Amino acid sequence: MPRAVLPMVAVLALVLLPHPGQAATITTLKSPKLDVPTSDAMFPAGPGSDAINNSCLACHSADHVLNQPSLSREAWQEVVNKMITAYKAPIGADDAKAIVDYLVRTKGAS
Ligand code: HEC
Repeated sequence: MPRAVLPMVAVLALVLLPHPGQAATITTLKSPKLDVPTSDAMFPAGPGSDAINNSCLACHSADHVLNQPSLSREAWQEVVNKMITAYKAPIGADDAKAIVDYLVRTKGAS
C-alpha cells in the first residue's frame, strides 16, 4: 500500500468504526435536575399593577424590571415601547399607559 494511503485508511477506520457511547439507542428521555433561579414575585399592588402583572411577566421576572435603576418617564416609555416593538409584547395602548404610570410611580426618577 502506498504510504500516502495509510493516513486515509486511518481516518476512514476512525470514522467507520463504532464509537463508544454512540451505539446505545436512546429509549428514555431524562430531565436533568437543574437549580435555575426563578422568581414568582409579582409587581407590588397599586394603580396599574394588574396591567403590569398581566403584560410584563410573560417573558421575564418582575425582579428583572424592579432591579433596574430608577428612570424618567421618557425612559420608561421607551422601555415599554421597546418591549412592544422589538420584542412583540402584546400590550394595548391603554395598558401601556397604565404600565408607564405605574413604573414612574414606583421606579421613577425626576
Ligand atoms: C414578549 C416578551 C417580553 C415582554 C412581554 C416584556 N418584555 Fe421586557 N424584555 C424582553 C426581552 C427579550 C428583554 C431583554 C432581556 C435581556 O437583555 O436579557 C427584556 C428586557 C427588559 C428590561 C431590561 C432593560 C432592557 O431594555 O433590556 C426591562 C426594564 C423590561 N424588559 C421591562 C418590561 C416591561 C415593563 C414590560 C411590560 C410592559 C416587559 N418588559 C414585557 C422581553 C419582553
